[in-house]
Amino acid sequence: RQVVLSGIQPSGHLTIGNYLGALKNWVKLHEEFDSYYMLVDLHAITVRQDPAVLRERCYEFIALYIACGLDPKKNVLFVQSHVPAHARLAWVLNCYTQFGELSRMTQFKDKSAKHADNINAGLFSYPVLMAADILVYNAHRVPVGEDQKQHLELTRDIATRFNGLHGDVFTVPEPMIPPVGARIMGLQTPTAKMSKSEDAETNAIYLLDEPKRIERKIKRAVTDMEGSIRYDLAEKPGVSNLMSILSACTGDSFDAITRAYDGQGYGSFKQAVADAVIAQLQPVQKHYHEIRADQDALDAVLRDGAERASARAEVCLARVHEALGFIPQ
Ligand code: TYM
Repeated sequence: RQVVLSGIQPSGHLTIGNYLGALKNWVKLHEEFDSYYMLVDLHAITVRQDPAVLRERCYEFIALYIACGLDPKKNVLFVQSHVPAHARLAWVLNCYTQFGELSRMTQFKDKSAKHADNINAGLFSYPVLMAADILVYNAHRVPVGEDQKQHLELTRDIATRFNGLHGDVFTVPEPMIPPVGARIMGLQTPTAKMSKSEDAETNAIYLLDEPKRIERKIKRAVTDMEGSIRYDLAEKPGVSNLMSILSACTGDSFDAITRAYDGQGYGSFKQAVADAVIAQLQPVQKHYHEIRADQDALDAVLRDGAERASARAEVCLARVHEALGFIPQ
């Protein structure tokens, strides 16, 4: 079977963007693929983290993976730092990645502007560790949102370059980007993507937000003065974003949404968006609290995941070391 792999960085709190762009789409893939999903804690420390907060958040995220429907028996769920092969392959790939390539990464440019006091080497080589995450499993497909496309391109370039020099060591992976929901924008600033670490709480919907809070945030979402409901990213970014959220939650097409709600003002449309989001998140939230109640079970999931992930990753790492001419252990 082919392999899918993806991951989320434990920073801030998971948003409906992470859910609709990534998590929700992962849930069914185990039917077709061997599926690996991780929490990328090594990536998280490229910006400063409070250790106690980070640890709590890692548990929160893993519990949310399961609550969203990722069954640990059908998927390998694990923490990146538990599998040493990621960091070891990342070092090798650092030596096959050019300074110029990393300088062009838009996420690096954005983050180094935002964290100007801490532009560390880890932040710069972040995409190389991401390439290692993917290549060390010989993953075929990588289900992500739109914003990870450039990193995937770089991963493909690194793999192709390494293979060209050393033979067919790596599978060259393909991104898997959903047709709707791949780029959810902020509710208050619909021209910038919704992100986990928002300055303004009302810009994002978090997976653990209570229904009332979700409703309030959507009702206050920025729209426009025109009053019509149609998908037009340039002229109507706020309405288009709410349409994307609704469509990704219910599966309804943009045309169907226009037919159902156009001409009624924004009130009933926003109510429908709020209802759809709440209907998606309520079962997730209920399940989440059950999972968090059993810490031992959660630890057992992570131990088992690390073992299964390591078993696969070690095979690739050994092949890489052999291809490089290192003396076998
Ligand atoms: P991260 O943690 O920023 O985001 C996790 C996933 O959520 C998607 N996403 C969104 N989708 C739609 N709309 C949004 N507003 C939105 N915001 C985030 C992201 O595209 C992603 O799929 N570098 C990665 C983590 C990573 C990784 C990997 C991913 C590390 N190694 C290997 C795949 C494979 C990141 O920071 O994602």
